[in-house]
Amino acid sequence: MNVMAAQMLLQQKSTPLYVYDLPELRRRIQYLRESLPAHVKLCYAVKANTFILEEVVRLVDRLEICSPGELAICQRLQLPYEKFVLSGVYKEPGQIRQLIAEETPIGIYTVESVSQFDTLYRAAAENQKQISVLLRLTSGNQFGFDESEIERIIRDYAGSSFLDIRGIQYFSGTQKTSVKRLKRELETLEQFIESLEERFGYQAKELEFGPGFPVSYFQGDSFDEAVFLREFSGLLHELKFKGTIALELGRSIAASCGSYLTQVVDAKHNHAENYAIVDGGIHQLAYYGQFMAMKHPYIQVLSDQNRDSDVQASEEEWNICGSLCTVNDILVKKLPLRNLQIGDVLLFQNTGAYCATEGISLFLSRDLPEVVLLQDDGQIVTVRPHTQTNPFNCPQK
Ligand SMILES: Cc1ncc(COP(=O)(O)O)c(C=O)c1O
Repeated sequence: MNVMAAQMLLQQKSTPLYVYDLPELRRRIQYLRESLPAHVKLCYAVKANTFILEEVVRLVDRLEICSPGELAICQRLQLPYEKFVLSGVYKEPGQIRQLIAEETPIGIYTVESVSQFDTLYRAAAENQKQISVLLRLTSGNQFGFDESEIERIIRDYAGSSFLDIRGIQYFSGTQKTSVKRLKRELETLEQFIESLEERFGYQAKELEFGPGFPVSYFQGDSFDEAVFLREFSGLLHELKFKGTIALELGRSIAASCGSYLTQVVDAKHNHAENYAIVDGGIHQLAYYGQFMAMKHPYIQVLSDQNRDSDVQASEEEWNICGSLCTVNDILVKKLPLRNLQIGDVLLFQNTGAYCATEGISLFLSRDLPEVVLLQDDGQIVTVRPHTQTNPFNCPQK
């Protein structure tokens, strides 16, 4: 977002503020499509940003939905079920049974464990329906399951009339800049898929792969995205696997369209350091790879337009701190700025992914726990009921 557009916006809106630039979002998705092989499908990881869903859904092939809260948002927005990939390390069994019983089928379910498989299979069998599933291979953490479990499922259920086992899902992390690492991962996946065919005669139709494409967040990042995407596309072309390839992407799709605006509300000089206090904070801003506020994201300063600009002012280093009462609430340390003043607004760029939904209680739109007080007489008093957060993450008109 450019400075002029931001200045105009600030005539109507106050800070802190998230802005998502829809033309930029469209440009970004088009760029990704043009940079990747034409047959590749794009699957948007909803957790990155739920507020742009109505725009994104028209431009991508699938939506990866990771929690009941994210599903509730997609349902409220009446997004098409056939694009849904219902994913997540914890799938609530009651909800799964209900969804499978419904008339409109969900596009694909991912399976992350033996117990998830049992729930899905039983619900499909009870309803005499066939559901489409992807089996999530673990990358060595709590997500997905082992090769041996997947092999067992393929061996026993590949011919089941209640399951269309579409193939494998795999995601091993975010902000991955190494094409070599991606090459290794794709080779391993391809070998696994081949071994399934050799051993069980099972031909995977799909590979849904989260490449964790990186975003350049900091000044001085030397990452060349065009080269990276060209090399990655080369890897996909080299694959012997000829089934569908879907790429699950969150930040790479959503980051660039977002700006976060926060105003300087105080300024001080403590023990020889400059501190600017802003009305936002670290709970509203997340730059993956930021280390103790040492790195400098792309930031623009919007000054009061009526103020005389002091061209003589020299650059000073500022620590930009939020309004949370914790010493950790530092957005950026030692940021060189000229003539920063109370009232100026800082525009943080590339904040379209994992900022508005990242505040940990709001992440994935999972519910807030109930809060109860235990009284002397043993009585339990609810002072906050179990509270849904998905309404906070759902665009309202
Ligand atoms: C299963 C899965 N797929 C895709 C993504 C999106 O990752 P990224 O934002 O790095 O593209 C995530 C992020 O956590 C994920 O868990």
